[in-house]
Amino acid sequence: MITGASSGIGLAAARALARAGDEVVLLGRNPERLRRAAERVRDASGSLPRAFQADFSVLAEVRDVARRLRSEVDQIHVLVNNAGALGGQAAVRRVTADGLDRTMQVNHLGGFLVTHLLLDRLMAGASPDEPARLITTSSLAEAWGWLDVDRPAGPLLRYRSRWLAYGASKQANVLFTIEAARRWAPHIVPTCFFPGLVQTRFALRSPLFTIARVMPGLVNPPEIGAGTLVWLATDPAALVPGGYFAFGQEFVATPRATDPGRAQRLWRSSLAAVGLPDSGHAPDTTHAT
Ligand SMILES: NC(=O)c1ccc[n+]([C@@H]2O[C@H](COP(=O)([O-])OP(=O)(O)OC[C@H]3O[C@@H](n4cnc5c(N)ncnc54)[C@H](OP(=O)(O)O)[C@@H]3O)[C@@H](O)[C@H]2O)c1
Repeated sequence: MITGASSGIGLAAARALARAGDEVVLLGRNPERLRRAAERVRDASGSLPRAFQADFSVLAEVRDVARRLRSEVDQIHVLVNNAGALGGQAAVRRVTADGLDRTMQVNHLGGFLVTHLLLDRLMAGASPDEPARLITTSSLAEAWGWLDVDRPAGPLLRYRSRWLAYGASKQANVLFTIEAARRWAPHIVPTCFFPGLVQTRFALRSPLFTIARVMPGLVNPPEIGAGTLVWLATDPAALVPGGYFAFGQEFVATPRATDPGRAQRLWRSSLAAVGLPDSGHAPDTTHAT
């Protein structure tokens, strides 16, 4: 199950996995792009995948899509939290209808919420020998993220650069992976990755990224960017709880993105932001065997 599968890295990964015989489920925001993406997966694999639409900047839509997914899917082997965007500069100054920083909501809290709402589907059938996988698309941008882990989507993020907001959300992706590993491994193995600079719909209106696009060899096609994702989804060697990867190898994140104390604080504040209680311990896995 791949969020952000209607375009770019998510779509390239969905096509590669489907071509290899895996059943993929697509999530996307734009209905027309999602429909075309499903057709491209069918062209690659021969069968039309199930596709679900939701805008992660509206938490009610995240809850609704999780409800629809739950009614159709009993077990998820791999959940990829890949949906994400660099917000517009104007959007950085506005909060969502949920009262949250938009970049943080779309890039971190939406996936955080959907993961919790589908947790029992990930746990179903998972075991330490055959764990489910939880993969999050982060970025090198985490390095310049300034993240208040106690108020990740609060007013401190507003009125600042969209790249800073983006970096903070990508740092949240790594911290989410660290704490998810502490809570859910070994039944679920959470990892995250940096896909490199990739030629997608990402940052289409960013002058900085536009310059990067024309630099020879700097920006890879989506199929290359999706390579690490596909590897994390399929290879036994990629079962490294809390691991951060790039280009198929372990990668180093900044200390503030990997600090276990910050990861726990972010987890608690993220639960509060999306309106979930904190059970404080690993979920009941008695039904998982
Ligand atoms: N491209 C890069 O160089 C690069 C580098 C580092 C990290 N990343 C990360 O890679 C991930 C995928 O990005 P990409 O490069 O493949 O860009 P992309 O082509 O723009 O794809 C982004 C995906 O996220 C979805 N999405 C965006 N906003 C959403 C929202 N509000 N609700 C639900 N889904 C939403 C998009 O849905 P629609 O198409 O339906 O709108 C699309 O499927 C992102 O998390 C991004 O931060 C990209």
